[in-house]
Amino acid sequence: MTALFGHRYRLLERLASGGMGDVWRASDEQLGRTVAVKRLRAEYLADDVARRRFRAEARTAAALMHPNIARVYDYGEQEDLAYLVLELVGGEPLSELLRRSGRLGVETTLELVAQVARGLHAAHSAGVVHRDVKPGNLLLDADGTVKITDFGIALNPAGGRLTETGTIMGTVQYLSPEQADGRSAGPASDLYALGVVAYECLSGRVPFDAETPVAVAVMHVHEEPAPLPSSVPEAVRALVGQLLSKDPLERPLSAAQVAERAEAIRRSLIELRRARATPPPAVSAYRAKCPAVVAGVGFLLLGTLLGGSLTAGSPDGADTEETDASVSPTETPVTPEHTKQPPTTPARPHYDAAGSSVTITTTKLHTEPNPGSTTTRALGSDNKV
Ligand SMILES: Nc1ncnc2c1ncn2[C@@H]1O[C@H](COP(=O)(O)OP(=O)(O)O)[C@@H](O)[C@H]1O
Ligand SMILES: [Mg+2]
Repeated sequence: MTALFGHRYRLLERLASGGMGDVWRASDEQLGRTVAVKRLRAEYLADDVARRRFRAEARTAAALMHPNIARVYDYGEQEDLAYLVLELVGGEPLSELLRRSGRLGVETTLELVAQVARGLHAAHSAGVVHRDVKPGNLLLDADGTVKITDFGIALNPAGGRLTETGTIMGTVQYLSPEQADGRSAGPASDLYALGVVAYECLSGRVPFDAETPVAVAVMHVHEEPAPLPSSVPEAVRALVGQLLSKDPLERPLSAAQVAERAEAIRRSLIELRRARATPPPAVSAYRAKCPAVVAGVGFLLLGTLLGGSLTAGSPDGADTEETDASVSPTETPVTPEHTKQPPTTPARPHYDAAGSSVTITTTKLHTEPNPGSTTTRALGSDNKV
C-alpha cells in the first residue's frame, strides 16, 4: 500500500502518463471518496517554469465550475511533489473511444460538440482560453457527460504568460491557423480545435496530417480539408466548416452559439429520423388528413434543409446515421439538469464506466474502422510544435 501524501491521498492505480506528469486514481482518505491525482513529473520539480505552469493550471481550472469541466478539488506542493487533485472522470478520453471505434455517428458527435462548447463557453466567459482542445483532453464520464480537462497551457488573464516567446503551445493537428501563423490564440482558436475534433469524430481522421508538425501547421493556414463523408447532413457540414474557417472572425461568434446550433441540428435529425421510422397512423376521419399532409410537407422541407443521408440515403454506403432500433421511451436514463432536453429528445449516448466498450442506452453508436488511424497515431496524440 502506498504512503499517504498531503496527509490524505493514497495512490491506487496509474491511469495515464503524460508530458508533464502522470495521472492516478487515488483515494481521499479524509472524505472517503475516489479522486484523480495529477502529479508533476519528478524531473520537472526543480524547473521553476514547470512548477509555475502546473500551479497556474490548478488555479485556472479551480476557478471554473461547470458540469462540462473536470472539477479541481485540491492542489499541493511539497519538497519532492506537486500534485493536483481532480474530480475522477469514470469513463475514458475521447481519444480512446475514437481509437477503438474509428468514428462516431452524427447525433453522437453533435452531442459531444454541444457539451464541449458549453464547457468552453464557461471558460471563455471567465477569460480563459484552453488552447489544447483535443480528444485526449475531453473525458467521457460513465453517464455520457463530456468533461474538459488539462488547462496546462491555458491562457488566463490573471495568470500571466508562461509560454516562452516564440514558442507555440498546443497539439499540431488541432492548432488554429492564427496560432500556426504566429498570432495569439483567442476563444475562436478553441472553436477551431473543436471543429477539428468534430471533423475527426465524423470522418475518422483529422483534417490535416503530414510527416512533420511544421507541414501540418502550414496545412492549417493554407489548405482546405477533404469533404466530410457524403452521408453527413448539410447542416452539420456547414457547422463544422464554419468552425474550421481560416479567419477567426468567420467562425461562430461564441461557444454558446455553437452549443445551440449543434443541439438544434441534433434535435431536428432525431425528429426527422423518428418521423421516417414511424408509420403514419391509420387515418379514418377526413379531419385527420389535413394535419398529416401539413406534417408530411414540413418533414420534407426539414429533410431538404438538412440534406445528406437522412433524405437521400447513403450514396457511398460507408456511413450510416444512428438507427432508432435501440430507441425506447422507457429506457431514457436520468439526464443531469444542465443538459435536460425537451421531452422529444432521447437521452445521450451512454459510455460504460470501465471504458472497455460503449453502451448506448437510447441511441446506437455508429462505429467504423478508422482509415486515418495509422498516420494520426504515427505522429502521436501529443505532437507539440
Ligand atoms: N480527472 C480525471 N479523471 C480521470 N482520468 C483523467 C483525469 N484527468 C486526466 N485523466 C487521464 O489522464 C490523461 C492525461 O491527463 P491530462 O490532464 O490531459 O495531462 P497531460 O498534461 O499529461 O496531457 C487523460 O487523457 C486521461 O486519460
Ligand atoms: Mg492532456
